[in-house]
Amino acid sequence: MNNLSTHFYRSKKAVEFIQSKSEGRQPKVGIILGSGLGSFVDNVHNKIILSYEDLPGFPDAGVKGHAGQLILGELNGTEIIVLQGRAHYYESGKPDVMRTPVETLKKLGCETLLLTNAAGSLKPEAQPGSIMMLTDHINFTGVNPLFGESEISRFVDMVDAYHPSLCEKLRTAASTQNITLHEGVYIWFSGPSFETPAEIRAAKLLGADAVGMSTVPEVILARFYGLKVAAISIITNMAAGMSNEELSHDQTMNNAAMAANDLQALLGEFLSNYETL
Ligand code: HPA
Repeated sequence: MNNLSTHFYRSKKAVEFIQSKSEGRQPKVGIILGSGLGSFVDNVHNKIILSYEDLPGFPDAGVKGHAGQLILGELNGTEIIVLQGRAHYYESGKPDVMRTPVETLKKLGCETLLLTNAAGSLKPEAQPGSIMMLTDHINFTGVNPLFGESEISRFVDMVDAYHPSLCEKLRTAASTQNITLHEGVYIWFSGPSFETPAEIRAAKLLGADAVGMSTVPEVILARFYGLKVAAISIITNMAAGMSNEELSHDQTMNNAAMAANDLQALLGEFLSNYETL
């Protein structure tokens, strides 16, 4: 079986398993949680919790802080599926590691994918502990999760990949909740080493406002499957060379918690008005 039919087959099996447990739920919004954001699920109601271990093609819980769970539930009137834990390109060198989970969300009927991540900031006003809505991205890795895809639809249009009306809805939700929501362009570096200060200076010249090691492949896959996309970064640090703090994964985890309340309030408000989109 080639790589592409493997994804197709695995997501079919994952969907069958999820539907056998999901009591007829009809999720509209998929949410992928980034490092340190696991507490988001505390406020989700009527939860059905499944382990990635039972879902073919879903990632092993790799990075510390990822639970490896799929949670069906409801938040402020909207049926959601939360993926608590993602795989990164740097773990395996495979840019399509999140293909089966994204395909599964699509097959389950989701129309929107909301991505969250931890990121470094290149914008002096976006300090650690704040949140930033992504309006575009730069793929700085040279790889793509659609390598090897044979369908003509592999030529995915990436204009307005971050759906303008979802972005507008998030702006409104932030102002209703009195949350400062920065906006900017995210640049994807492969990791796992952090960037050098010279790379960050280059990224700044290219127009980047936030830097991270995830999300972009999932955005490309989501657009391939016709899902609408919105994405929020939690700023856990100033990017390399922009502050005296040493970069570390522990810092990412600790500072992610600082912004978790804002993220919770923002997404809660967004989902309470989701149907009026
Ligand atoms: N660079 C890359 N990934 C990150 C960073 C960073 O500064 N912070 C959190 N994730």
